[in-house]
Amino acid sequence: MKKFRNNLFGSLLSISTFFVCTAQRKTVEQKVDSVLRLMTLDEKIGQMNQYNGDWDATGPITKDGDKQNQIRKGMLGSMLNVTGVEHTRQLQEIAMESRLKIPLLFGQDIIHGYRTIFPIPLAEASSWDTATIRLSARIAATEAAAAGVQWTFAPMVDIARDPRWGRVMEGAGEDPYLGSAIAAARVRGFQGKGLGNTDALMACAKHFAAYGAAIGGRDYNSVDMSDRTLFEIYLPPFQAAVDAGAATLMNSFNDLNGVPATGNRFLQRDILKGNWKFKGFVVSDWGSIGEMINHGFAKDGYEAALEAVTAGSDMDMESRSYINNLSRLVKEGKVKIQLIDDAVRRILRKKFEMGLFDDPFKFCNKEREQRQWNNAENLRAEKMIAEKSVVLLKNENHLLPLNKQTKTIALVGPFVKAVRDNLGFWSYSWPDDTVRIVTQFQGIENKLGTNARLLYAKGCEINDSSQAGFAEAIEAAKRADVVIMSLGEASDWSGEAKSRSNIHLPGVQEELVKAVSMTGKPVVVLINAGRPLIFNWTADHVAAILYTWWLGTEAGDAIADILFGDYNPSAKLPISFPRTEGQIPIYYNHFNTGRPATSDSDRFYRSAYIDLSIYPKFPFGFGLSYAEFTYSNIHLSSSSMRANQPIKATVTVTNTGNYDGEETVQLYIQDLVGSVVRPVKELKGFQKIFLKKGESKQVSFTIDIDKLKFYNSQLKYQAEPGDFKIYIGGNSRDLQEAPFSLK
Ligand code: GLC
Repeated sequence: MKKFRNNLFGSLLSISTFFVCTAQRKTVEQKVDSVLRLMTLDEKIGQMNQYNGDWDATGPITKDGDKQNQIRKGMLGSMLNVTGVEHTRQLQEIAMESRLKIPLLFGQDIIHGYRTIFPIPLAEASSWDTATIRLSARIAATEAAAAGVQWTFAPMVDIARDPRWGRVMEGAGEDPYLGSAIAAARVRGFQGKGLGNTDALMACAKHFAAYGAAIGGRDYNSVDMSDRTLFEIYLPPFQAAVDAGAATLMNSFNDLNGVPATGNRFLQRDILKGNWKFKGFVVSDWGSIGEMINHGFAKDGYEAALEAVTAGSDMDMESRSYINNLSRLVKEGKVKIQLIDDAVRRILRKKFEMGLFDDPFKFCNKEREQRQWNNAENLRAEKMIAEKSVVLLKNENHLLPLNKQTKTIALVGPFVKAVRDNLGFWSYSWPDDTVRIVTQFQGIENKLGTNARLLYAKGCEINDSSQAGFAEAIEAAKRADVVIMSLGEASDWSGEAKSRSNIHLPGVQEELVKAVSMTGKPVVVLINAGRPLIFNWTADHVAAILYTWWLGTEAGDAIADILFGDYNPSAKLPISFPRTEGQIPIYYNHFNTGRPATSDSDRFYRSAYIDLSIYPKFPFGFGLSYAEFTYSNIHLSSSSMRANQPIKATVTVTNTGNYDGEETVQLYIQDLVGSVVRPVKELKGFQKIFLKKGESKQVSFTIDIDKLKFYNSQLKYQAEPGDFKIYIGGNSRDLQEAPFSLK
């Protein structure tokens, strides 16, 4: 009886909650409609217009009229790159002078931190730790929202298989499964407990879509792919972001199969707002509406505005196409007012949900801004996240971790004392950075104090041909017990408009490694980069290599913790590392082809280069630990499954090393035969486990029908009966396997 009463109470509660929520949702819609009814056409178009602030620019600037007066006249719905409570308050006060007092939305690229800078997103992706990644976004949102920002143009969820593309640093690498999990984590981190909270930012999944597939890895370049590839590889992280509740999306600069994303109805109307039922709004990328003229897709701004608004681009960032043309397009009957109303409704809906109509100044709280400005807890979290982002690529003879009693250490290389480089691209520089950022030299000094003698020699510049510093570096190495070299690419060599044709270690850095190695002293190399670099000689000859990416404000302390064993590295590569630029694109989830290359001994008549190994230098999912993890006893609960009868795959993982450590156990599945060819394997699950030295654990994955689905040639998402293989291991190559079938 009690149970029944509870169930009855429970269902009554849920019914009333449903009506209250519906009433609330209806209230937002009613409020939106009530404002919309009052708006003139020009005021509606004003909401679809976004300008850059005067404090920073992240694209080509258009110098024109008095923005503040345009705000006063209701000709602006949003601004970007306005930061700080004073500035946003000042502009919001002007918006309150407009006829309808519609509040402005302030957006900014809070990509990996605001006041506290976190590891670049590709580094965080190496952690494979969605809870940690979510925390990073949560802290970034808390700091930025305290500074008057309401909307971040993040997460960037573009899948990237070409490390020549500079923006690979901004995403989660090459895999749609990992990319989707991270996209959802970042959206949830930014939006926190939900829009309307003063520590929540509206997320903006970008760049919709397939921007990362730019031909040749050249930023802004054309993208040409089958719809199947688009659906299998490039759209899943966007769908995951939408499913996680992303408030907005940003479209991309590229043309996709001949149609610019900004003017692409298939992408924005059919898929996003149609199939996915997206209720948020789409902002263009910087000037991308006007750039459809360059694309040759629009004759002029008038046509560009027509194409963009018809295709579902709701807000025009910085191109002025909407503010200069939409009114005429409507008056001439080219654009129905319903299209304008739909875009404006979407924008107003978010402003209501953010609570900006109730209190336009709710994000302008000086005390909260100051409280967040030097938040020690955020710095501690940053160091923790940075440690989880570093990939141990090599550790011959267990050179690492180094002994804290080491007497003399040579610190060599252009990044040992670098300061702002540690922040990577899409970071904010603050006046006190030089004291706030922990350099790699300082981190080691903090760790060892006066116990060790640190001999510093820059050795060479990042990218010039001079070897004048080599002698000093060699001398330091000769006097040291161990050499730590910090090398890489400059932090502004990856990021937007930073595609590179040559991704080798720049300048004479590898020559420096060779020269220092000649001393015979043990060498540890740290590689700082926003992308996979090519460093084959170093990889083949140096005893230990840590890929440190760009780790943010606490970089030095995080690296020192790893070097001296206070943190055991656990990260895994989210992207394949090529041996040469000629090997690009190279990715793990490739098709088998009719003449598969399965070993380096057999390349003739095989899908392989005759002059290069068939394998990447380091494979997707690869990363070592100071512990040693062995995999054994893979077995399945059944060798066949049905659509409604999942099976379980189990493997035993043992830590046979001398250190406790964390391992990311990866599950891949291969569909051996399909109505279209299927990849040799696809990531379909991962679990992070912690094992004490000597400890074993059984790790299980449930294989359900969803893990077997794919888009067939008619773009139907389904699984097909047949034979499959399961692979489980610590990277995409060294795997235990077991067959099963789907009946
Ligand atoms: C840039 C970038 C985009 C960014 C926007 C605003 O061009 O492509 O990612 O959010 O402009 O800064």
